[in-house]
Amino acid sequence: MRPLVFAWPGNEPLAAALAARTGGEVAPLSLRRFPDGETYVRLMTSPSGREVMFACTLDQPDDKITSLLFAADAARELGARRVGLVAPYLAYMRQDARFEPGEAITSRTFARMISQAFDWLVTMDPHLHRYRALDEIYSIPASIAASATAIAGWLRSHVERPLIIGPDAESAQWAAAIAQGTGAPFVVLQKQRRGDRDVAVSVPDIAAWPQHTPVLVDDIISTARTMVAAVRRLHELAMPAPVCIGVHALFGGDALEALRASGPRIVATCNTIRHETNAIDVAGEIAAAAAGAVQSLATFTAARN
Ligand code: R5P
Repeated sequence: MRPLVFAWPGNEPLAAALAARTGGEVAPLSLRRFPDGETYVRLMTSPSGREVMFACTLDQPDDKITSLLFAADAARELGARRVGLVAPYLAYMRQDARFEPGEAITSRTFARMISQAFDWLVTMDPHLHRYRALDEIYSIPASIAASATAIAGWLRSHVERPLIIGPDAESAQWAAAIAQGTGAPFVVLQKQRRGDRDVAVSVPDIAAWPQHTPVLVDDIISTARTMVAAVRRLHELAMPAPVCIGVHALFGGDALEALRASGPRIVATCNTIRHETNAIDVAGEIAAAAAGAVQSLATFTAARN
């Protein structure tokens, strides 16, 4: 039987890509709130005996997690063969340590909740900083799709002579992969974060690339203060206005206005979260990773039986 794909609102293009790539079928899902604020979930096609996947990116995760857990539980009760979650943006990865006494390490708790509800997970470029791999906190098979090839392809057709710049040490992993994909040089800045919206960066010697266009790449743009600090610093060094690329376009509050006001040449993001800056389509990469996950679990089950 063909896999069934259920899409949370806003994830319909991803669901179509998943169905096309897995030979599956997009099925309707009914979600609403009761007058008292409780959540109503109904799977409108029977999942009995089927591979089921939910397409739901996890920005604003607190609004989505309840319906996801209810839907996953319903799919299991109704006989789904396996239930997978395709979340292009994976939330709660940044609180990966207890920085102050008494703080919840939400990355671990969230990972436990998802691992209990689902059989597998596919995401794109999760924020791996103190964790080296998702399996340090997720106990289900978790596949990572990478955005670097799609970003490198976009850069090849939009930017001449890019100089890839990661604004902080964590971004070096994405900057290096994109630099490799474009054959461009890359440098990594040093970031000091003094508060949610208080960021400073220092720039190493970039005088060796005076003819290049600076391209700042980061996994997440949230308050955009990291990007703003880097754009301003490059301006102080008389570099050309940079291109700013983010994988996950969170853009809380005034983030986009603040970034645009700092004077970048272009702001471009991947479509892991729907946003007006989306310019780089990564649905194919995510769908390929999901098809791989479904296939390898099916092969594993067949071999075991
Ligand atoms: C942090 O380590 C990430 O890689 C990003 O640099 C960070 O999340 C960006 O946040 P903001 O846009 O709030 O500066």
